[in-house]
Amino acid sequence: MPVLSGTSRLAGVCGWPVAHSRSPRLHGFWLQRHKINGAYMPLAVAPENFTTAIRGLVAAGFQGTNVTQPHKLAAFAICDTVHDSARRAGAVNTLIFRDGKITGRNTDGWGFVAHLRGSGVDPKAGPALILGAGGAARAIVAALQDEGVPVSIANRTRARAEELARELPPLKVLDWDDRSAALADHALLVHTTSQGMHGHPPLEIDLSRAPSSMAVADIVYVPLETPLLAAARARGLRCVDGLGMLLYQAIPGFSEWFGVTPQVDDELRRFVASDLIGEK
Ligand code: ATR
Repeated sequence: MPVLSGTSRLAGVCGWPVAHSRSPRLHGFWLQRHKINGAYMPLAVAPENFTTAIRGLVAAGFQGTNVTQPHKLAAFAICDTVHDSARRAGAVNTLIFRDGKITGRNTDGWGFVAHLRGSGVDPKAGPALILGAGGAARAIVAALQDEGVPVSIANRTRARAEELARELPPLKVLDWDDRSAALADHALLVHTTSQGMHGHPPLEIDLSRAPSSMAVADIVYVPLETPLLAAARARGLRCVDGLGMLLYQAIPGFSEWFGVTPQVDDELRRFVASDLIGEK
C-alpha cells in the first residue's frame, strides 16, 4: 500500500461479509503496477447501513465502489442513473460517484465476454447454451445477446429459466434433462451453477455430443480446473476458466475511478490465483 496524500483517489468494495472478496487484492495489484496515488479498500457494510454508508462515501469524496452481496439490488435504488448493463443484468456491481451523483453499472457480463475474447474464443461463433439461471447467468445471457448471439438456457428448476426468458427475450428455454443432447446445436457452453465448486459434486453432463469446435466456459474458479473443464479438455475442446471473468469485470470500475485502463495478464492471474490455493 502506498503512502497516501491529500489528493489520493479512493474506492473500495461494499459487502457483508466482505472478508472473502478478491477485489482489494486485484485492484491493489493494478494500483501498484501503475504507481497510482490511490487506494481500494474492503468496506464491511451491514445491509441496514448501506444507504448511510454510500451517502457517506459520496460525501467524503470517494470515486466509487464495487458492490457485492447482499447489496446488489439495494444498489439499484440509490443510483441517480442506471446503465442498461445493470438493468438487463438485474443487479448493480459498480458504482461511480461524480459531482455528488451516483451511476450504477453491471460489468459481469462485459467481463465474461471480454475474457472469452482474451482467451481466443469468438462469442459470435454460434449459439450459446447457458446452464443455470442465477444472477451470474442473467448477466452473461444479457451480454451475449447484446453481441447478437442466439442464447438457450437450461436450469434444474425450469420455472426460473422461464422467468429469465420473460425478462430477456428472445431466450430459448430447454429442459435440464436435455442438456447433454442439446450440446450438438451450440458453439459455446457456459456453466453457471454451483456444481463442481470445491465441496460440491461435479456437474453431471455427457460431452459426447459436443461439436469438436465447441468452447466450454465455467464460471466456478475454485478449483480453477473444474471436473467439467477437465472433461472438456480431455475431449480436446477449448476451455475458459472462471477466474478470467472475475479479473475482467474489474476493468471498467478501475478505469472510471483511477483514470487508467488496466490489463489482465498472466502475472495478475498468478497473483490472484495464488490466494485461491487450498480454499474451501
Ligand atoms: P447466483 O449466485 O449466480 O445468483 P444462485 O441463485 O445461487 O446463483 O443459483 C445457483 C444456480 O445453481 C441455480 O441455477 C441453481 O439451480 P436451481 O434454480 O434449480 O436451484 C443451480 N444449482 C444449484 N445446485 C444444483 C444442482 N445440484 N444441480 C443443478 N443445478 C444446481
